[in-house]
Amino acid sequence: MRTKFKAWAQPFLDEHKEVQYNKEELSSLKDFYLEIGSGKGEFLIKMASKNNDKLFIGIEKNVTCSGITAKKLVESKLDNAKLIHDDAINILPMLKEGSVKTIFLNFSDPWPKKRHHKRRLTSVSFLNEYLRVLPKGGKLIFKTDNIDLFNDSLEYFESSPFKLISKTNNYLGEDEFDAATEYEEFFRNEGTPINRVVYEK
Ligand SMILES: C[S@@+](CC[C@H](N)C(=O)[O-])C[C@H]1O[C@@H](n2cnc3c(N)ncnc32)[C@H](O)[C@@H]1O
Repeated sequence: MRTKFKAWAQPFLDEHKEVQYNKEELSSLKDFYLEIGSGKGEFLIKMASKNNDKLFIGIEKNVTCSGITAKKLVESKLDNAKLIHDDAINILPMLKEGSVKTIFLNFSDPWPKKRHHKRRLTSVSFLNEYLRVLPKGGKLIFKTDNIDLFNDSLEYFESSPFKLISKTNNYLGEDEFDAATEYEEFFRNEGTPINRVVYEK
């Protein structure tokens, strides 16, 4: 599902700073919910609409996906959902220790080639950063259609202090505190099973 480049995306992002989190203020932010690789913002909007007492932040590096999310955020008028258009690798170190309640990794890029495995959002260096920004009891929730990424990620998690809370190879969307993403809807409609794990620090 390639996203076709949209030339309007960057100017729209430049014009609508109100739906983006100010990077200078990140170090003082706490008790929020973070989606890394938020794509076109489906999950962010649905979660913020259902949980208006909670702040949801999405990090997305792709300019077109970020522009589409920003447009949806402007239209939604939600004040508890914000976007950060950047690579998570630059943003995670700016977050305060123990400041994120839950991290969501939804249908992260699989990076199938071995030499690219370190770019995976479940790779050990990312897990170490997640452990830093989550408090004790904070959660990391990972969903994917990609069984190779899923199985490799279970190994990365096993080598970390994360505690496994639940695991399924046929997630049907039964968790109340969750929402279907764009990719999730696509794969579920196709009949592809969805794998999901919940970990706790
Ligand atoms: C396969 S898409 C899934 C999008 C959405 N989460 C969904 O489930 O519909 C993965 C998204 O993660 C973004 N992404 C991958 N690595 C990232 C990183 N290091 N920082 C920010 N975004 C990233 C990609 O640009 C892409 O939009």
